[in-house]
Amino acid sequence: MIKFTINDKAVTSNVAQDTPLLWVIRDELKLKGTKFGCGIAQCGACTVHLDGAAVRSCSIPLSAANGAKITTIEGLKGEHPLQQAWLQAQVPQCGYCQSGQIMQAASLLAQNPTPTEQEVIEAMRGNLCRCMSYTRITKAILSVSEKNAVKVFDPAKENNANDMSA
Ligand code: FES
Ligand code: FES
Repeated sequence: MIKFTINDKAVTSNVAQDTPLLWVIRDELKLKGTKFGCGIAQCGACTVHLDGAAVRSCSIPLSAANGAKITTIEGLKGEHPLQQAWLQAQVPQCGYCQSGQIMQAASLLAQNPTPTEQEVIEAMRGNLCRCMSYTRITKAILSVSEKNAVKVFDPAKENNANDMSA
């Protein structure tokens, strides 16, 4: 038996431990926001977070989730700043790749809240979009990065971490 939390809910699974995590997420737990694309860790459609890191759930076994904290697109609850940025930039076309794209981007921003354009492109390189929404994806992520930079640098506050004038 494998025990883990998914979107802050404790769950157990009794399926074979080498079952791909994506199968458990979609078929057992009925969380359909995470998509199946290639099945061989090459497209990013199945991206979820495992203890905060973006992973390809099609290519990791259920056993890897034992004791872990899994987050899927449903766990962001439509409240993540990226989801608002996605709407504002009108990123999706067919939409199929987009949950994976957002989960990859959310992991990037958790590690680096103010990535440069080049850092965004590098971090997102493994997430494919057959509708070619790449430019809008980059724009949406950079819009959040810029807002984060404003939060980091607040001239109204003393001892600002970015204030190099002192
Ligand atoms: S379905 Fe997992 S990377 Fe393509
Ligand atoms: S929006 Fe269609 S595959 Fe990305």
